[in-house]
Amino acid sequence: MQTLLWIVLGLVALLVVVTFAWRWASRRWALPCPSILSGAVDGTLADKFAGTRETLERLELRPGLTIVEIGPGPGRLLIPAARLVLPGGKAIGVELQPPMLDKLRRKLAADDPGNLELICADATQPVLPAGAADLVYLCTVLGEIPDRRQALENCFAALRPGGRLVIVEIMGDPHYQTRGKVRALCESVGFVFERLTGNWRRSTSSFRKPG
Ligand SMILES: C[S@@+](CC[C@H](N)C(=O)[O-])C[C@H]1O[C@@H](n2cnc3c(N)ncnc32)[C@H](O)[C@@H]1O
Repeated sequence: MQTLLWIVLGLVALLVVVTFAWRWASRRWALPCPSILSGAVDGTLADKFAGTRETLERLELRPGLTIVEIGPGPGRLLIPAARLVLPGGKAIGVELQPPMLDKLRRKLAADDPGNLELICADATQPVLPAGAADLVYLCTVLGEIPDRRQALENCFAALRPGGRLVIVEIMGDPHYQTRGKVRALCESVGFVFERLTGNWRRSTSSFRKPG
């Protein structure tokens, strides 16, 4: 019994060390959530833990909007979000990892809303059309990007004047960013803070591009 306890404690300690090392290293190098862990950000459990329905409500989607998700992974949010901007709307996903996009495409093959564009790129690269998006959002992604400022500057450029930036952070994500850090960084790029919903466990920070 005592051996088992030590094994469990050892595993917990290892998990904590790996999490902090990953978090620290991600400030310097791009070490995104590997696609073998995509199950952690997809499926019924992820929907419950990450509050998929609640996040979609907070995005305030409506038909006709042009929306962009940075780091959609296997598409937990992007696919239903794309549906919510129909008719007339368009959704774009900018994803760094091809294997994540492969998973997303496999889901689309079964059920495609038909208004999704996928771009395989680093969000720090200027891959989005300027001033065209009504909404850009990131969910548990910001902390995975070493040059967060550049990524947010690109989001700023991609939005139309008056467009919204929404950042969702969930406690338990190894790359979790505090609400204060998110706000300070977004304001330093030129966004105007609009509101904070949720709590420390699952927060949604909304900003606007002045216009
Ligand atoms: C933790 S997953 C979150 C997936 C999705 N946003 C969700 O909440 O279900 C983070 C995703 O961001 C992507 N990512 C990380 N850094 C990125 C970057 N610089 N540009 C684009 N995507 C990135 C990763 O490849 C991964 O798919």
